Amino acid sequence: MITDLYVPPAQKPGQSGTTFSFPAGVGAVKDSFDIISAWPGYGVTPLLRLTGAARQFGVGEIFYKQEAARFGLNSFKALGGAYAVCRVLIQVIAQKIGEIPSVTDVLGGRYKDLTASTVVCCATDGNHGRSVAWGAKQLGCHSVVYIHETVSENRGKAIAAYGADVIRTKGNYDDAVHYAEQEAKHNGRTVVSDSSYEGYTEIPGWIMQGYGVIAAEAVQQLGNDKPTHVFVQAGVGGFAAATLSYLRDFYGADAPRGVVVEPSEAACILKSAKAGRYETVTGDLDTIMAGLACGEPSPIALSALFILADAFVATDDDDVRDSMRGLAKGYNGDAAITAGESGVAGFAALRAIMIEKSDAAARLREILALGPDSRILVIGTEGNTDPDLYREIVFGEDHV
Ligand SMILES: Cc1ncc(COP(=O)(O)O)c(C=O)c1O
Repeated sequence: MITDLYVPPAQKPGQSGTTFSFPAGVGAVKDSFDIISAWPGYGVTPLLRLTGAARQFGVGEIFYKQEAARFGLNSFKALGGAYAVCRVLIQVIAQKIGEIPSVTDVLGGRYKDLTASTVVCCATDGNHGRSVAWGAKQLGCHSVVYIHETVSENRGKAIAAYGADVIRTKGNYDDAVHYAEQEAKHNGRTVVSDSSYEGYTEIPGWIMQGYGVIAAEAVQQLGNDKPTHVFVQAGVGGFAAATLSYLRDFYGADAPRGVVVEPSEAACILKSAKAGRYETVTGDLDTIMAGLACGEPSPIALSALFILADAFVATDDDDVRDSMRGLAKGYNGDAAITAGESGVAGFAALRAIMIEKSDAAARLREILALGPDSRILVIGTEGNTDPDLYREIVFGEDHV
């Protein structure tokens, strides 16, 4: 169910005297693409055409970019955390040798002795920590990852499998972020956070530029099928801001309308957009969309979303469960897709808006002009990152 929504008055970059610099524009994403595409195992992720789902929901086309295939990590996150670890290590090496090392040399282990003592750390709901730990292992440094109270054991184990020290902290994701920052100060570690805060914007900025690779691949795959809408799920907002930013820079005034989707229990970006200023959501943020259970937006992402997003919506866990089951079966002959709880949120909101009889859904269909002529891009940002939970949701408890 669409539990809340906000449609801001139209205001686009360059309008009403606004100056705007895209956090993940075409130029910056070219730099991240050059580095990321040099990693072993890089491949463009599939863009699936969900004709059966589009027919069922009454829209023209649905394009589903399947990020579960990214670097064998089951989510899009390697593009952010691991990419930022790479940029951190390039800086560490450059300070020691007096020149910028080539990515091939860094990846090939030429400077492992110079990076072995570097420790990167982060807080995570699961996917970001896995990406940072994977990057640290690949690139030759150590990682410490903080998981909060409700992160599942399976997600913790998946991170530890890449050699990270995994530490469980009290409280929610935002508490873990603050704890990681304090510990890093005491122990001389480099925080690789996907969220920005005062005085800390460079690394989250790189992470957004890494995420921009998804949109850069998608526009090439779409070719002349330019989308009319894009639905992007948000935790701290970095992924959503990166995607809308790239698409806006690439397509200009003709860019697709951007819909930002959050869980009802952690809709801090929607709350901020309504208030027109930075707002947080507190509490245990209890949703099955673990990756989106963030109560504090990333300020650099939020300020971009204020300008780039056409609508903000909140959706609930039931929509997500139904969508995961629908995709697992395949709608009307569509290929079956394994989609995780957070990864499916954009698709789930689209489905709810199109099939729901509520006033909120009808209003969104009208304002966003969603209908038979719409071509919608959604990004499936994760697969079954917690396989037990996935089985329980999709096939019932007996299958766990
Ligand atoms: C699967 C998945 N999708 C989307 C997001 C949202 O990314 P962001 O926190 O940058 O908004 C996350 C965040 O962890 C995630 O795990």
